Formats: sequence, C-alpha cells, structure tokens
Amino acid sequence: MLILGIESSCDETAAALLRDGKEILSNVVASQVDLHKKYGGVVPELASRKHVEAILPVIDEALEQAGERLETVDAIAVTQGPGLVGSLLVGLAVAKSLAYARNLPWVGVNHIYSHVAAMFLSPGDTLRFPFVALVVSGGHTSLFRVASPTRMVLLGRTLDDAAGEAFDKVAKFMGLGYPGGVVIDRLAREGNPSAIAFPRTLLEENSLNFSFSGLKTAVLNYLKGFSGELSVSQIRDIAASFQEAVVDTLAAKVMRAARQEGVKLAALVGGVACNTRLREKVSQEGETAGVPVLFPPPSLCTDNAAMVAAAGYHFLREGRRVTLSLNAYYRFSVEKQNASPQSTQRAQR
Ligand code: KG4
Ligand code: ZN
Repeated sequence: MLILGIESSCDETAAALLRDGKEILSNVVASQVDLHKKYGGVVPELASRKHVEAILPVIDEALEQAGERLETVDAIAVTQGPGLVGSLLVGLAVAKSLAYARNLPWVGVNHIYSHVAAMFLSPGDTLRFPFVALVVSGGHTSLFRVASPTRMVLLGRTLDDAAGEAFDKVAKFMGLGYPGGVVIDRLAREGNPSAIAFPRTLLEENSLNFSFSGLKTAVLNYLKGFSGELSVSQIRDIAASFQEAVVDTLAAKVMRAARQEGVKLAALVGGVACNTRLREKVSQEGETAGVPVLFPPPSLCTDNAAMVAAAGYHFLREGRRVTLSLNAYYRFSVEKQNASPQSTQRAQR
C-alpha cells in the first residue's frame, strides 16, 4: 500500500510517501522557522498562509523524490489535530481534494499518535507492545501506554507548558533566538548542570502529569537578579542547569510510568526527544531499571509526514475510513482517534 502522508499542524509543511507502513520513499519538510524567528514564536496567521503556498510544491517534491505519481498513490493520511486550526485546515483541504478527485481511501490522524508512530518506522525488530511512550515536543508533553499500533492510553500530561515550550521560552528570556531547544542543548554541553538548583516539579507521589511553568518562572526570576550582560559561561551554566531540571523530571516520569504500568520498554518521541542530554539520561536510567529506551532518529522526532503516513497505514488497515465532512480539531484529544470504550474510560480516570 502506497500512502501519501500530509502534515501541516504547526510551522512545518510536510509530505511523505510510505510503502507498506515501513519503507520511507520520501520525507519532505518545508520549515517556516525563518519566517517566525523574528517574532520569537509561531504566528498562526502567517503559518497558515505559508502552508497554502508550500503544500502543493511539497507534495510534488515528495512524489518526485519517491519516483511516484499521484496516480500510483493508494491512500492518504493527513493530520487532523491538535494544532493551529488555520494550518490544519490547509492540509485537510488538500487531502480531501486529492482523495475526492482520485476516489482514494483516506484518514485523519491525531498528531500526537503520529509522533508515536515514528517508532513503527524504525528498522529492526526491537519494538514490542506494550511500551510506554513519552511524546515531548513544543506543543505536547504526554505519557501513554501503547498497546498496539492503533491503541494508546493516556497516562499523564502537562498541566501547563510543554517541555519544548519551556525550552523555547527560556531561550527567549536569554535572547538566544527561536526555536530555543537546539541552542540550549548545544550551550548546555559546555555548562555546569549543577551550577544553579532549579526546581524539579514531580507533583504527587504517583502522578504521571507534568508541570514546567514553575521551572520557567524560576529561570526568569534568576535572570532578573542580574543587572548587566550575562557572560558566555553564565549562559552555559544557566542553560545546563535548566536543561538538567527538565531532563531529570522527564526521565523520572518515564521510569515511574514503566514501573506503575509493569511495562519493560519505553520510547521517547517528538522534537525534544532530539535532546542529547535527555537521550543520555533516560537511556542510563532505563538500563539501571531494566527498561530499554528507544528513540526515532532526529529527523523523525521533529514534525514530519512519514510519521503521519505510518499512523494512517495502521488505521487504514483496520478498515477506518472518513468522509469529506471530517473537520480539524485544535484541542488535545486522544479519544477521538482511539474510539475504544475501554481506553476512553481509562484515560478519563
Ligand atoms: O515535534 P516538534 O517539531 O513540533 C511540535 O509538535 O511541537 O517539536 C519542536 C520542539 C521545539 O520546542 C524545539 O525547541 C524542541 O522541539 N527541540 C529541542 C531540541 N530540538 C528540538 N528541545 C531540546 N533539545 C533539542 N535538541
Ligand atoms: Zn509535533
């Protein structure tokens, strides 16, 4: 089955061709980072306009790189939500038009599911069910128990900021540019992670939820204590100490989730899963706890359409189909995709 995946939930316009749920024939991403950089974050209206311009050339490019044509595509998978609604609508409109014109089966996919589906694209057969997945990106920080390629149960999520959002905001406070995650990752390598004792918010004893706004405010207050310019070594130390607090929290929660769920495998996905220190720390803790931790390659961690096609493949194989009345949704909603009474019940607890 040749699937065309389409992603436009935030500031990346992406299209990919995927054969039989596993083989990536092309994975094209047009980033809008340069457009939004000067505003220090994504401007929704600008993002949707840019998607309108980019989407058809990006799909053409994906077809060309794969050596395929629209006529050879068997099905379409598109991001339905959550995300910026104006941006989502661009991808959805294109998916609907192509599906209608060619009479193709198609599905709308939850963006958070797609991040987890990046795991199904990894070579080798180390992945087995169930596993615990941490989706950690600019918009989301959520923990799931993944029971099968189409069933996952929400275990916990952030009560305020996403981890990536905290990285981006802290970088902004320090004038390091947007997006801040990569810059902090790089600066932190030369800094001292114990220089400043920033808080680790673990919430109640068994909680699998997250909270990063206290940490963000702690960094802001710390910065307010300086009157002059920060030296390079001070910036490195702040970056390393902040990053260590985020990483400690994420690692602790992944291990707590694995323990509580009695699961012996974990996966980290989403843009922040590119973070060098996070990969190192969670892998170490996983080794100690006997819970191996898997990560997709960085190109499949950040937003892309191969992961959308991978998620769509499994839903299509299950026989899911949608109609042209399908609409975008901007809120977090795993149940919309799951539709299994058991998982809905559990996630609501
Ligand atoms: O998954 P993604 O591309 O988009 C969303 O769905 O949000 O993730 C983007 C986020 C941004 O907040 C970015 O700063 C963060 O991922 N990020 C990183 C790193 N690379 C990207 N955060 C920490 N360390 C990194 N190396
Ligand atoms: Zn994403």
